[in-house]
Amino acid sequence: PDTLKGRSYTRVSDWSREELRTALDLADELKQERVRRKELRVLPGRTIGLIFHKPSTRTRVGFEVGIAELGGMALYLPAADLQLARGESYRDTALVLSRFLSALMIRTFDQAEVDEFATYASIPVINGLTDLAHPLQALADAMTIRERFGRLEGIRLAYLGDGNNVCHSLLRLGGRFGMHVTAACPPGYEPDAGIVAAARADAEAAGGSVRVVGDPLEGAEQADVLYTDVWTSMGQEAEREQRRRDLERFRLDGELLSVAAPEAIAMHCLPAHVGEEIAEDVLYGPRSLVWDQAENRLHTQKAVMALVIR
Ligand code: CP
Ligand code: NVA
Repeated sequence: PDTLKGRSYTRVSDWSREELRTALDLADELKQERVRRKELRVLPGRTIGLIFHKPSTRTRVGFEVGIAELGGMALYLPAADLQLARGESYRDTALVLSRFLSALMIRTFDQAEVDEFATYASIPVINGLTDLAHPLQALADAMTIRERFGRLEGIRLAYLGDGNNVCHSLLRLGGRFGMHVTAACPPGYEPDAGIVAAARADAEAAGGSVRVVGDPLEGAEQADVLYTDVWTSMGQEAEREQRRRDLERFRLDGELLSVAAPEAIAMHCLPAHVGEEIAEDVLYGPRSLVWDQAENRLHTQKAVMALVIR
């Protein structure tokens, strides 16, 4: 719908359930068209700038390939090479880039930088991951779950490990769609309490639920989806050894899968540290939907661009 034209996507909660569903429906359609080798050049001549303060494989390639397939082009803008690195403000950068580009993606540390961009830019601003949120990832995850189970409503998802950016966006998305989301995290690694409360309010209004537990087996029990992410996120490298010790019991392995629902699937946003947060036989095993999930980053990012870019 036209309600999304010109809009930013800084966090899952920027968009209503129906708007998120529109993006998922379009992503499904774009995936089918791509299989049929049909090109939907709905963004001819449009441009998206991709500002990265952190590394990326999926997000970057998803945007670069995605906009090329839609008839436009991407500019890869490592933050260190912009005048931002020499102190030009986010405000000025947003004002200037709005005169050149059709949309802007930013991957950075502080969510406030994305929010500042969105405040001053007159083009859509898309969050490509912050320490707080990874809303594009949650869209691809939802697409993947819907492909397997045919619905999101009522699906039981257990997120295991570090209650981080990926966990936050999954909570918000699960809440929007009335899923039953459990975050199983050790003490000190729980997701943000404000995000949990907001996700819970959404979930309960939509017939779902949100809970945070401290025991991985309790979290995984009867779940349809077991989901994990790295224990040491980008920027946390100094804490790596401590995190390994604290999160050891939360590895997504065969034991956790054995207590989940019989048809349970395993998910991971990638990149994976095999043998840490996910066991090798799970990642490459028959229950893994990880590679479809990664592919779906492309289709969902194309859908977001097609919907928001004028
Ligand atoms: N999952 C994800 O965002 O991957 P990249 O860091 O490779 O973009
Ligand atoms: N939580 C991870 C996700 C990477 C896609 C990180 O922030 O590094």
